[in-house]
Amino acid sequence: MIPESVLNQIQERVDIVETVSAYVPLKRAGRSFKANCPFHHEKSPSFIVNPDKQIFHCFGCGVGGNVFSFLMKIERKDFREVVEELADRVGVELPKDPKRPVESDAERDLVRANTAAAEYYHRVLMSDPVSEKARAYLDRRGVRKEVLEAFRIGYAPEAWDAFYKHARQAGLAEPLLEKAGLLVKGKNGGWYDRFRARVIFPILDGKGRVVALGGRVLDDSVPKYLNSPETEIYHKGRQLYGLYQARPAIREADAVAVVEGYMDLIACHEAGVKYAVATLGTALTPDQVRLLKRNTHNAYILYDADKAGEAATLRGLELFLEEGMDVRIVRLPEGHDPDSYVRKNGAEGFRAEIAKARSLFEYKLGLLKTSHDPSTLDGKVRIAQEMVGLFAKAKSEILKAAWVKELSQELKLSEQALLTELGRSTAARTARTAEKSAAADGPAEARSAEPAKGLPRQAERLLLSLLLEDDRYVAESRRELRLTDFYHPVARRLVQILWEADERGARQEARGLVTKLQDDPECVKLLTLTTAESETIIDRDRSFTDCVKRLKALRLDGEHRSLRQELAEAQKLGDQNRVNRILYDMNELNKRMKEIHEKKDKR
Ligand code: CTP
Ligand code: MN
Repeated sequence: MIPESVLNQIQERVDIVETVSAYVPLKRAGRSFKANCPFHHEKSPSFIVNPDKQIFHCFGCGVGGNVFSFLMKIERKDFREVVEELADRVGVELPKDPKRPVESDAERDLVRANTAAAEYYHRVLMSDPVSEKARAYLDRRGVRKEVLEAFRIGYAPEAWDAFYKHARQAGLAEPLLEKAGLLVKGKNGGWYDRFRARVIFPILDGKGRVVALGGRVLDDSVPKYLNSPETEIYHKGRQLYGLYQARPAIREADAVAVVEGYMDLIACHEAGVKYAVATLGTALTPDQVRLLKRNTHNAYILYDADKAGEAATLRGLELFLEEGMDVRIVRLPEGHDPDSYVRKNGAEGFRAEIAKARSLFEYKLGLLKTSHDPSTLDGKVRIAQEMVGLFAKAKSEILKAAWVKELSQELKLSEQALLTELGRSTAARTARTAEKSAAADGPAEARSAEPAKGLPRQAERLLLSLLLEDDRYVAESRRELRLTDFYHPVARRLVQILWEADERGARQEARGLVTKLQDDPECVKLLTLTTAESETIIDRDRSFTDCVKRLKALRLDGEHRSLRQELAEAQKLGDQNRVNRILYDMNELNKRMKEIHEKKDKR
């Protein structure tokens, strides 16, 4: 984490207008600048850069952000890279990343051992006659020389001490090689090679260091694959095979294909799908998902047909959703994995399958329809409950709303019924998370589930842009309104952050907020949208009072509605005491409503 103060320092010395004009010609338009959006194709300019706020926003495609997000998007770099480069350019010193400790001696030794082994095995495969069988095998499996080189694939000869001899010459100590899983100690105290008669796949970490090896037999003997043990430098659940090589392609395509095996990954490359990584047969972990998210928000999952139907797979896929990523599932025909599919149907056929990928929604619904009968009421209810459990995990309110609609059409159930169910499911989830994190943050009422809409209503949007404009409005709105007066969940979240900053006596600038919210694209989008819109407001004070009034009036309307419902109920039950109480409350409410409207008329 880079401290906010340092990010502010950088942003004070960098001008977003100047930065953006290096990529697209900007034209002045009022207080802002305009251009054709560099992130989507358009003929008339809807891309706005606001020099006061140091924010950009495109009314066409909805992207927006600050100078960091602009560079990340246009240069396809991650946050750290962009910040480092800008800091360098404007002469701001960055604190050392405490999460990136210096490499220890033990780590350096392990990398040295693994690198030596990978290089040795690669050389043997490429040039030693003992590898003839291995080369024929790889040839049969369609792996070309360029790919052997790109992935530094190797061969461990059948001998007991081929690598051991080499390692001794290279001055690598036996205990180190044992720890790295390259040598095994025999009963008689001698050492022998762990990898024998196997094709070797080196596993690289994010920096391109060899941290582990995987080895495949050339025939049907078992185990089919042998892998390095976990060490200080190798944690299975935190690394992905092929990510180092695939990174540029992932950024370029803004997508990643996740496969299971070494050979599947190689096959993807052969088919020109270079944005692929492999999990190496284990279930996907949250760490791995976050690793991918640093590079793209779009994942395609390509598992074997049998694996793809399993519940464990589905849980893995839901991780993407929880991280706010878009995940699609490619279902290959029964009996195929990516490798066998590519060899049978060629690169074209393979890419066509990827294009047919199904959303998590379609995928889960498909699975559920095979286990429950959607033509019976009981089946519908079961399917709806399971699906709603999935919706509750989505970060995006817009996505949830779209899914609810689709499911209601699909099952012929009312949207309202599904929303109620979703509310319950979300509440249960929130309770679980709150338990986990012990300290609940924010008022409980602010977390209740509510239907989401595309955009907040006008008054909320306008108010939000005013709050971003002027601190006075933040303080005043805090006195006048409640969080629940903001109906749209995304707007409410933004207001909550602004109010919290105000409570601490801090000023929260829009450009800093963009960085804080970078994992929440919907919030950023609304933030930059409202900032861009604020320019059209003429009388700010007057707009502010009007919006506050409007939100208050809406709140009272809601209260009135529920009192009316209560009243009807009490009347039906003949509970005269309660009827009287409610009538009294309604009367009070009417007075307050009148007050609000009168104030309005006086102006
Ligand atoms: N795997 C492993 N150890 C095993 C079997 C599998 O580590 N004994 C891992 C490997 O990373 C393998 C992946 O799980 O690539 C998927 O396994 P599987 O589908 O059985 O193998 P394939 O990748 O299809 O291997 P191949 O095509 O070479 O037979
Ligand atoms: Mn296979």
